[in-house]
Amino acid sequence: MSNAMDAKLENHDAAILLEQAARLDAADPLARYRALFIGTDTNLSYLDGNSLGRPLKRTPRDISTFIEEGWGGRLIRGWDEEWLDLPQAIGDQLGRAVLGAAPGQTVIADSTTVVLYKLIRAALATVADPARAEIVLDTDNFPTDRYLVEGIAREEGLTLRWIEADPASGVSVEQVRDATGPATAVVLLSHVAYRSGFLADLPGITEAAHSAGALVVWDLCHSAGSVELDLDGADVDFAAGCTYKYLNGGPGSPAFAYVNRRHLPGLQQPIWGWMGRKDAFEMAAGYEAAPGIRSFLSGTPAIFGMLAIRGTLDLIEEAGMAAIREKSLKLTAYAVQLYEAWLAPTGVELASPRDPALRGSHITLDHPAFRNVTAALWEQDVIPDFRAPHGIRVGLSPLSTSFAELFRGMAAIRDQLHR
Ligand SMILES: Cc1ncc(COP(=O)(O)O)c(C=O)c1O
Repeated sequence: MSNAMDAKLENHDAAILLEQAARLDAADPLARYRALFIGTDTNLSYLDGNSLGRPLKRTPRDISTFIEEGWGGRLIRGWDEEWLDLPQAIGDQLGRAVLGAAPGQTVIADSTTVVLYKLIRAALATVADPARAEIVLDTDNFPTDRYLVEGIAREEGLTLRWIEADPASGVSVEQVRDATGPATAVVLLSHVAYRSGFLADLPGITEAAHSAGALVVWDLCHSAGSVELDLDGADVDFAAGCTYKYLNGGPGSPAFAYVNRRHLPGLQQPIWGWMGRKDAFEMAAGYEAAPGIRSFLSGTPAIFGMLAIRGTLDLIEEAGMAAIREKSLKLTAYAVQLYEAWLAPTGVELASPRDPALRGSHITLDHPAFRNVTAALWEQDVIPDFRAPHGIRVGLSPLSTSFAELFRGMAAIRDQLHR
């Protein structure tokens, strides 16, 4: 075929794919939410909301009102009037809107890394069985999860049992069944794998761990706000996640912790601070844990960092997680379609599951040129992220990403590869 004919065919395909984006946007029941986010009226293609979500337009107003009226007006009185309760109040809203968690089991606190540390130590204290001296985790989990568990194993004299995870998929129920047994104390896994976007079978794995007598800690960073969760229904023991990805809390906004109410009485988390103490302001001698999930807190809550989360939680409550997941599935399916049309023929590999039911809200594409390609894309306001050794992650935030935006981003990746 001549080059001219090739080009004609390519343009024809591109026109069909662009029309498809327009049709998908027109039929999208969540399309109107996009305009509620800052920056969505430009041509910038943002494909990294799974790393840092866009801010909502109401966030500057909410923060300014807080400064003027809350911090500036109420001053220290604000703690008693509202702020001390915010970690639990926002935690409960998150539980209701996103996690499938009844009230009293979720708090906003710390960073995900610190929350995971506290939860894993709390899980070990709950198991409290010297015969159970192993923690099960996988080789492809997020670095902080792996490092934390290495540190805890050293502190506590425990053994790590590593599941070899396929970096293009993730951990299966069978692998967890094989890795767990009478020596297992705790299983730590990510629900959506940070690299491949693989969606683990959370109820199946939780059940497998329980049937081996172990407890499970789930890292929900890439699932909170993108996939439906029913933590209570699956009888999850402990879970943690970020609020700066699909919950749009902003850079460094605090994490959340979920503790199943069955583990709350006598919960032992390792960082005893005044905020987790019964009657914190009595300043009394000796640590006595506050009742319930409050005992998970350690120090002064980061109120500023929590304010932006509420805007997104309100939207999620309105839209519903089922509709959000539905759109996420359509976005990743369209991304895979664009990949097949434009990138697979040039040797790019899809490093994510092909079955949409096994995907979270991002896909990863591998090509040796992608480190340089990503740098060039950022210069052109096309923003996916790069994960070593050579993956571009295309992250799709159902409330703020449009199909046209995804089309532009994928077309830019194609063009950059052809340079
Ligand atoms: C899956 C996963 N776990 C843990 C973390 C670490 O979170 P933090 O930096 O808030 O401690 C991240 C951060 O992106 C993540 O994606």
